[in-house]
Amino acid sequence: MIKVSPSMLACDFTKYGAEIEKITKAGAEYVHLDVMDGVFVPNISFGIPLVEAARRVTDAVLDVHLMIVEPEKYVEQFAKAGADIIVFHYEATNNHQEVIDKIHAMGKKAGMSIKPGTPTFVLEPFMSSLELVLIMSVEPGFGGQKLIPETIEKVAQVKEMRQVLGVELEIEIDGGITSDNAHLAKDAGVDVIVAGSAVFKAADTAGVIAALKE
Ligand code: DX5
Ligand code: ZN
Repeated sequence: MIKVSPSMLACDFTKYGAEIEKITKAGAEYVHLDVMDGVFVPNISFGIPLVEAARRVTDAVLDVHLMIVEPEKYVEQFAKAGADIIVFHYEATNNHQEVIDKIHAMGKKAGMSIKPGTPTFVLEPFMSSLELVLIMSVEPGFGGQKLIPETIEKVAQVKEMRQVLGVELEIEIDGGITSDNAHLAKDAGVDVIVAGSAVFKAADTAGVIAALKE
């Protein structure tokens, strides 16, 4: 069963709490929160206060995607703010195991993400200590971009690595996913689909979430 994690980057921030309630009532299992620092990516979004605010309005899983440099400095604060899964970028640090260990020490799930140009083999040394791998299917930094089709095969590669290593982790895809192209990621074996524009632009929220899953 595929899970859907709508990206709040595409929501109407004047109704933040209501938007979270809307997507979770419509069948979303996770709430995807995109944190951008203007350094790791050429855009600034939001940080700890909006993770705390989300935690106050929902019991759903908060899937926090850190697009920030030196995540080791901040993961504890995001954990305290109420994140359930903390995803950091392979490209954003040299201290990967330290980041993972800090997330686990806070009792949270650790995820590692790779940009479209980063090969999947870099994940291998960490896969036994990760609960999630996030494959970026656009260059991180902005919502509403077009899917880069070449990234889809990485989902199948990670699925294969997961099987060979005998580990359990979720494979998530993020960027440019719509109800028209989601089948590509599902055929490749994805577990969690992130969708921002596709979910928040739809008139029928429950319909689009169901279509992403089926
Ligand atoms: C991009 C973010 C994505 C993005 C998804 O840097 O990580 O989560 O907001 O939005 P859509 O689905 O519109 O590509
Ligand atoms: Zn994201």
